[in-house]
Amino acid sequence: MALPPPDRSSTCLVTGASSGIGTDIARELAGRGHGVTLVARREDKLREVAEELTSRHGIRAETVACDLGEAAERERLVKEVEDRGLTVDVLVNNAGFGTGGRFQRLDLDRELQLVRLNVEAVVHLCGIYAPQMGGQGRGAILNVASTVAFQPLPRQATYSASKAFVLTFTQALREDLHGSGVTVTTLCPGLTQTEFFEVGGMSDEAGNAPDFLLMTPAECAAIGVRALEKGRRTVVAGSFNAAGAIGGRLMPRSILLPLLRRTYPIK
Ligand SMILES: NC(=O)c1ccc[n+]([C@@H]2O[C@H](COP(=O)([O-])OP(=O)(O)OC[C@H]3O[C@@H](n4cnc5c(N)ncnc54)[C@H](OP(=O)(O)O)[C@@H]3O)[C@@H](O)[C@H]2O)c1
Repeated sequence: MALPPPDRSSTCLVTGASSGIGTDIARELAGRGHGVTLVARREDKLREVAEELTSRHGIRAETVACDLGEAAERERLVKEVEDRGLTVDVLVNNAGFGTGGRFQRLDLDRELQLVRLNVEAVVHLCGIYAPQMGGQGRGAILNVASTVAFQPLPRQATYSASKAFVLTFTQALREDLHGSGVTVTTLCPGLTQTEFFEVGGMSDEAGNAPDFLLMTPAECAAIGVRALEKGRRTVVAGSFNAAGAIGGRLMPRSILLPLLRRTYPIK
């Protein structure tokens, strides 16, 4: 088992735990007896999740409200975890958001916020906790990328690039930590029914997706945590998405990109 066993003084730090896939990843970990530290901006939502997990599983559930897009806030988070006497044995970098539309028409500040959250926060938290885990000789990191990581996506240029970064970074980090007792896994969800599309102003596109393409956050989280437990390198959630990821990786860009430009539902 690559997942360290639960311990009273250790915790699983889950970012983006106030909704969607992050809430369900926290549920999966708590169900295995792990204490969790839930991080996102909406404190009320985090508290609700913490209360649910404590009463259902009798585990220690901490909450830290934090805007992970800000470096100073991330440093405050790290200090709070330390001040509470907790060791992070499992780190789940799940918080993220997407935007949709032609890059030149999108709000540049929002694109930059996306890079700070989807990319910079992942590097920052791995940069803090990977050395600590390596020093202890145990730990597990789950970084959430996406199926969009496997090819550039017109109309989601910054978002797809941010997830390609997460995938490449995480796969390389796994090798850097080889032999240290720390395992590193990338979870690549496809379309999942969460607040993601509403937050990114893309509800119409997701609403039109056929049912067989949509996964629940609970299904996606279960796949991610099982892969983490097995110490897998990368897992794409769902066999249809896995086939799509192979296509995205292998199809020549000269064919794929004009095709996506013409057919991708986001205008
Ligand atoms: N849904 C999909 O179809 C899909 C597909 C592929 C990949 N993903 C990826 O899956 C991950 C989880 O997304 P989701 O689908 O579960 O969407 P979601 O329901 O919108 O959840 C996003 C989470 O990130 C948190 N978050 C957003 N901005 C934050 C910030 N600045 N600081 C701290 N936390 C922040 C949100 O909490 P607060 O608002 O409370 O801060 C929320 O808990 C993301 O990385 C996303 O890119 C999703």
